[in-house]
Amino acid sequence: MNVKVFKLIPEEDIKNKVKELADRISKDYLNKELILIGILKGAFVFLADLMRNLTIPSSCDFIKVSSYGKSTESSGIVKIVADISMPIEDKDILLVEDIVDTGLTLQYLINHLSLKKPKSIKICALLDKPERHKIEIPIDYLGFTIPNKFVVGYGIDYDEKFRYLPYIGYIEINGEE
Ligand code: IMP
Ligand code: MG
Repeated sequence: MNVKVFKLIPEEDIKNKVKELADRISKDYLNKELILIGILKGAFVFLADLMRNLTIPSSCDFIKVSSYGKSTESSGIVKIVADISMPIEDKDILLVEDIVDTGLTLQYLINHLSLKKPKSIKICALLDKPERHKIEIPIDYLGFTIPNKFVVGYGIDYDEKFRYLPYIGYIEINGEE
């Protein structure tokens, strides 16, 4: 199988956008107790950069959900592989996601985390593919709107490959997008 990666969002653009998002979040959460919850594995690079760019204190935790495996299509079935370990009751939560595709993962996780009674839950996503939405979830902090392509890099994988790329690219498999 021949997989080719084409650059979509350069490193510098991601860096600037992360800074812009972090500035907004820092203002909105001033004097609040912010907990970033990263959705693994895809969001780990984004969360690390976001956290380092915040000008307010924050803590973080992670939740791991099952992935697509070798497929580029979501099964629509979301499974929690590892839950958060911190208590979040009465805390302000920012759920950090790499990509919103159908929206089903976020819907599921918002319901799941709401049961733990946080004070607030907002969403921060690096990428959004509006053409693919099956459900509309308001994204409070969004990096980039992208076309309906399968993307990799900056923590995001195709079959565990390409997470290491410092930019966002899209892939073509055997000459097809
Ligand atoms: P959703 O539940 O359909 O919104 O899927 C969201 C999750 O699917 C994201 O957190 C990613 O892990 C994965 N995903 C969606 N689109 C892509 C893509 O283009 N490349 C890699 N992973 C993707
Ligand atoms: Mg993800």
